Amino acid sequence: MPERTPYIAANWKMHKSVAEAGQFVDALLPQIAATQSDVVICPPFTALTAVVERRYGTAVKVAAQNMHEEDSGAFTGEVSAPMLVELDVEAVVLGHSERRQFFGETDEALARKVPAALAAGLEPILCIGESEEARDAEQTEGILERQLQADLVDVDGARLSEVVIAYEPIWAIGTGRTATPEQAQETIAFIRDMLRERGAPAEDVRILYGGSVKPANAAELMAQPDIDGALVGGASLDAADFAAIVKAAG
Ligand code: 13P
Repeated sequence: MPERTPYIAANWKMHKSVAEAGQFVDALLPQIAATQSDVVICPPFTALTAVVERRYGTAVKVAAQNMHEEDSGAFTGEVSAPMLVELDVEAVVLGHSERRQFFGETDEALARKVPAALAAGLEPILCIGESEEARDAEQTEGILERQLQADLVDVDGARLSEVVIAYEPIWAIGTGRTATPEQAQETIAFIRDMLRERGAPAEDVRILYGGSVKPANAAELMAQPDIDGALVGGASLDAADFAAIVKAAG
């Protein structure tokens, strides 16, 4: 089985000023200097440059939390992939459940955003996940299959290894209710099978788990064979906690 480099991402959501972002990076870098994992920080747009400037010369990458699918145009309030690339941003979170739930993000838009990110040279971190009702009704696999097919419809199978997938069950986000390692492993193995069916080099695709990842549960989750890392919300706001999660990835 090919070795997949662990991938640990900090999704700050709408948290941290420019000053706070700078303090976080200064505190984090010495704690993770020895890591072999990919470490990615996803600040709000306003703090992207502060993080980019501090991580030059380190292995840390910077991701935006959203982007528009067009390069430019009359889309008030939006930001495009080339604009992010100009800031030396390397990746972008797409389809987070909070964007789907609160801001009307659709699978149709994501079907255009993922190829637009790849075309601009940004690594897409595509989030998928089911609601609590869907899990209780045993519809998880159907929901994930529909999201993956719709969102990746215009991505060539060969390029799918450049997409990072984040499996984030909505019921585990910000609730303290983490999926068990077995639940997360089973679901992520299912996602890998779907990517294989779709013609992807599925053994090379990094698939992350997200939802109440903390220093106390990170090692057990990431020890699962198909879980390649974590997309961390709340616990990524504290440099010591996030560093502990990065170290848990090995
Ligand atoms: P929490 O880690 O706060 O549950 O958030 C997960 C998440 O949404 C990361 O994108």
